[in-house]
Amino acid sequence: MQLQDKRVVITGAASGIGAAIALLFSREGARLLLADRNTVGLDRIVESCRQQGAPCHASVSDISTVKGAQQSVDDCINHYGGIDILVNNAGMLTQAPCMDITPAMWDDMMAVDLRSVFIASQRALPWMLQQQWGRIINIASQLGIKGGAELCHYAAAKAGVIGFTKSLALEVASQNVLVNAIAPGPIETPLIDDISSDWKIAKSAELPLGRFGKPEEIAPSALLLASEPGGNLFVGQTIGPNSGDVMP
Ligand SMILES: NC(=O)c1ccc[n+]([C@@H]2O[C@H](COP(=O)([O-])OP(=O)(O)OC[C@H]3O[C@@H](n4cnc5c(N)ncnc54)[C@H](O)[C@@H]3O)[C@@H](O)[C@H]2O)c1
Repeated sequence: MQLQDKRVVITGAASGIGAAIALLFSREGARLLLADRNTVGLDRIVESCRQQGAPCHASVSDISTVKGAQQSVDDCINHYGGIDILVNNAGMLTQAPCMDITPAMWDDMMAVDLRSVFIASQRALPWMLQQQWGRIINIASQLGIKGGAELCHYAAAKAGVIGFTKSLALEVASQNVLVNAIAPGPIETPLIDDISSDWKIAKSAELPLGRFGKPEEIAPSALLLASEPGGNLFVGQTIGPNSGDVMP
């Protein structure tokens, strides 16, 4: 029970990595506020977390808008009277050569994968600073470190998440609010369903571990960063459960 009674927001919790973090955190005693725009998937994970004994509420919102990105934190305050841990996980992925990325595609990617991280963190910070305790965990990507062909917008957003993480960590660490990122390698989730199987086979062969990860193999990294004393000394770090794809 490493997160006993901690009040936790997880965005993008209806699927993949966010759902795995929710299920693990629910077994560790957390009180959960799970956010997503996918109502059906969200209800399913909320029910699973409740079955494991965790207090758990759903927050349906679209984080591509400022109001939507603030809503999960506001709902957590309304239900639990505060927030201790924010996991900025929701994200989208599209693929196109740079010449075919339109300004609208670029802006969508930035709104969902980068701006929402800033907006939700800004909303949570006053509560964390006031209580002199908080953890913000941002899900970036190894592509934010190494880049990816036909992924200029995605890689730029994820590199932005890493830069934001370091900068905010510098601002608030002295007040016991710790901000860190996780940069997963390729993980078997619906996010990469549309990528060709040829690419997946070639990519797996190129990984030192020889395989993609599973969401349950990312969730323990989030638990480490959220927990005490395990997470106490991580400040502005980007940890890399990535099958060996990147060794910074
Ligand atoms: N799967 C991978 O290979 C991989 C690798 C590195 C990083 N990541 C990152 O991990 C995070 C989770 O991705 P995943 O692989 O679990 O994908 P996923 O598609 O399984 O889950 C993403 C969730 O985010 C939600 N979401 C997307 N846009 C939203 C919006 N505008 N408002 C509200 N919710 C929204 C989706 O509904 C979905 O439930 C993302 O930030 C992704 O970029 C994934």
